[in-house]
Amino acid sequence: MSIIDLIRSRKSPYAFDGQPVQFDEIKTAFEAARWAASAYNSQPWRFIYEPAGTDAFDRLMSFAIPFNQNWLQFAGGIGVILARTTSEHNGNPDPSAIYCTGMAIGQFSIELTALGYDLHQLSAFDAEALKRDLRLLDALEPIAMMGIGKGAITEATPQDLVEMEEGRKVRERKQLSDLVKSLSEPFSA
Ligand SMILES: Cc1cc2nc3c(=O)[nH]c(=O)nc-3n(C[C@H](O)[C@H](O)[C@H](O)COP(=O)(O)O)c2cc1C
Repeated sequence: MSIIDLIRSRKSPYAFDGQPVQFDEIKTAFEAARWAASAYNSQPWRFIYEPAGTDAFDRLMSFAIPFNQNWLQFAGGIGVILARTTSEHNGNPDPSAIYCTGMAIGQFSIELTALGYDLHQLSAFDAEALKRDLRLLDALEPIAMMGIGKGAITEATPQDLVEMEEGRKVRERKQLSDLVKSLSEPFSA
């Protein structure tokens, strides 16, 4: 069974319908993340999630740069993606932690799409302030944040976001032949 159509349909919207998304609505997506592969099965991914309409949502949003706050304010929830970068067992650095957290969020994003929701990740946020203000464990590194909701242009969508959505209609990707090579055909750039 191929899920390529589902994968291709995932997209990062700038316009959301403004409806709060409760954790239970998207719990299966976190379950998909839980089942990701990881080096030594270390499972270094951690998530914080807060639905819209709460002080906690506003607190998380405050760590994003203003450009991102401009669209994130309309998301139905905000997630923070964290990686535990040292071993729970011996405290040694886990060099695969960020890679494995990416595995988990990849699975999360596809299950979320299957559930009928969208996510828009952002790395332009103040990770140091977030870590300090939320008093995170030293071992937990904030990797990215994400706005979650149903991507839609509504009557409440500001014009600048409508235009940003219009500009994203054509989604571009490199050619597969530029990404996958055999040994006899080396990468030239
Ligand atoms: C790790 C990561 C960080 C990103 N940071 C931002 C960001 O700070 N602001 C933003 O508007 N989009 C951000 N994006 C969204 C990308 O721009 C988007 O995924 C890319 O343009 C491809 O579009 P698509 O997700 O719709 O396929 C980020 C995506 C990822 C995976």
